[in-house]
Amino acid sequence: MSRHRIIETPRLQLRPLELSDGDRIVEFMGQRHVTDFLLFFSYPINPDQVHVWLKNVIEAKPEQCAYWGIVEKSQSMLIGIISLTMDTYHHKTEMGYWLDSDYWNNGYMTEAAWHAIEYVFSELKLHRIDLTHMVANGRSQRVAQKLGFQLEGCWREGHFKNGSYKDVKIYGMLEVDFLRARRLREQEKNQASQSA
Ligand SMILES: CC(C)(COP(=O)(O)OP(=O)(O)OC[C@H]1O[C@@H](n2cnc3c(N)ncnc32)[C@H](O)[C@@H]1OP(=O)(O)O)[C@@H](O)C(=O)NCCC(=O)NCCS
Repeated sequence: MSRHRIIETPRLQLRPLELSDGDRIVEFMGQRHVTDFLLFFSYPINPDQVHVWLKNVIEAKPEQCAYWGIVEKSQSMLIGIISLTMDTYHHKTEMGYWLDSDYWNNGYMTEAAWHAIEYVFSELKLHRIDLTHMVANGRSQRVAQKLGFQLEGCWREGHFKNGSYKDVKIYGMLEVDFLRARRLREQEKNQASQSA
């Protein structure tokens, strides 16, 4: 498999992470509310661990994962990360994402994730995307809903975070869910342009 390509969206560019992104990533991963629901880093983060993690994800094979830096185009600013962890045997991938809290609630992650989903089904031709979030993570829940993920269940006390076990909601998206969500988006766009 060749390197994952750059993805352009109306306001964002998703491009492969680079070692030179390290200090900027430490800056936004260091925000308490960004780490609240992450599995692999907790507050306060250790910058050296972030740099080691970054080197590992950059060196990983495209068959194993994709990690894109999310760049807000008007400011040329790296504002977050979106990832796919591949499961080639089962033709599926798990999506993860996080964003600098200064940029929350502008629809950025929904925009980034939607284009990554299109890439998964249209170009990688995978069968399924997994997504999970801790029950208390209302923002991630809303992003999953807006994207068209189907809620499939709950792992009781499935993640251990900040000293206690957390319930976790589990979602999936099959190609049929993606096609339905794409139809709905097109209908909404048409209605909006007719009423404008
Ligand atoms: C989850 C996260 C990526 C969302 O990014 P974002 O760019 O703000 O997401 P969007 O703007 O596309 O959508 C956020 C939605 O959540 C809603 N929202 C905001 N605060 C909320 C809350 N406390 N509870 C429920 N929904 C909330 C917003 O109103 C918006 O919905 P709307 O468009 O219907 O108004 C971001 O909050 C983040 O990085 N969180 C920390 C890391 C994390 O939790 N990652 C996911 C781990 S599973």
